[in-house]
Amino acid sequence: MSSPVTLSPWNHNCSSEPPFLVILVTSEPYSFIVRKAIRSTWAKNRVVAGKPVLIVFLLGSFPGSSRKQVALAAEGRVYGDVLQRDFVDSYYNLTLKTLMGLQWVTEVCPGASYVFKTDSDVFVNIQRLLPLLLQRATHTHLYTGRVSLEGEPVRNPNSKYYVSKTEFPFDYYPPFCSGTGYVLSVDLVWDILTVSPTVREFKLEDVFIGMCLNTVGVQPSYLSSVQG
Ligand SMILES: *[C@@H]1O[C@H](CO)[C@@H](O)[C@H](O)[C@H]1NC(C)=O
Ligand SMILES: *[C@@H]1O[C@H](CO)[C@@H](O)[C@H](O)[C@H]1NC(C)=O
Repeated sequence: MSSPVTLSPWNHNCSSEPPFLVILVTSEPYSFIVRKAIRSTWAKNRVVAGKPVLIVFLLGSFPGSSRKQVALAAEGRVYGDVLQRDFVDSYYNLTLKTLMGLQWVTEVCPGASYVFKTDSDVFVNIQRLLPLLLQRATHTHLYTGRVSLEGEPVRNPNSKYYVSKTEFPFDYYPPFCSGTGYVLSVDLVWDILTVSPTVREFKLEDVFIGMCLNTVGVQPSYLSSVQG
């Protein structure tokens, strides 16, 4: 018997209380303990600087094992913060995973102001991030994080980050924010989803987001200087 491989977050009613920030954490189906640690540490507070904050873990499917899936479904029922769809959970599907998260925000939480995309091995200082966002005059048109300008594709075939000339023929990536953690205002999330089908598929998720925004003329800003 196989369980349906699709779980949706339920622990926040986005229509009655739109979150100011939705934190999307790329996770792997097996990483129960990591998610538990995140829930009890940096993502513990549902309200930060007076604003509702929502965390959602993004997962693909287990390779085969339906017993593990049952456990994951139970985790999703208890915490209500798991978004899982039926695609192979692999490093090179990270772009797909991120787009799934962004899509969920526009469908279920369109009233949110910002999205913060991060990985499960990152410790995030939400307390410090929120005031930076709150001091902005308008909550639109923001793409920020650790900015990479003139990032060069890794051409060493032994590297995890190897990119062939067929995948990306140019010498430099467009400006992008490292996938370790970046912030998008929700208007830009809509832009990304609009253009992503026309942008060439690319396995490095953070570069792909930069490519999408580059096509609509949006450049990253520096987090330290985020203001009005
Ligand atoms: C969420 O809030 C809206 C508006 O207050 C309400 O109509 C809806 O029933 C709520 N949904 C859930 C699942 O509680
Ligand atoms: C990504 O997921 C799709 C759908 O499950 C699968 O067909 C594909 O092989 C996966 N790609 C990688 C690189 O794992």
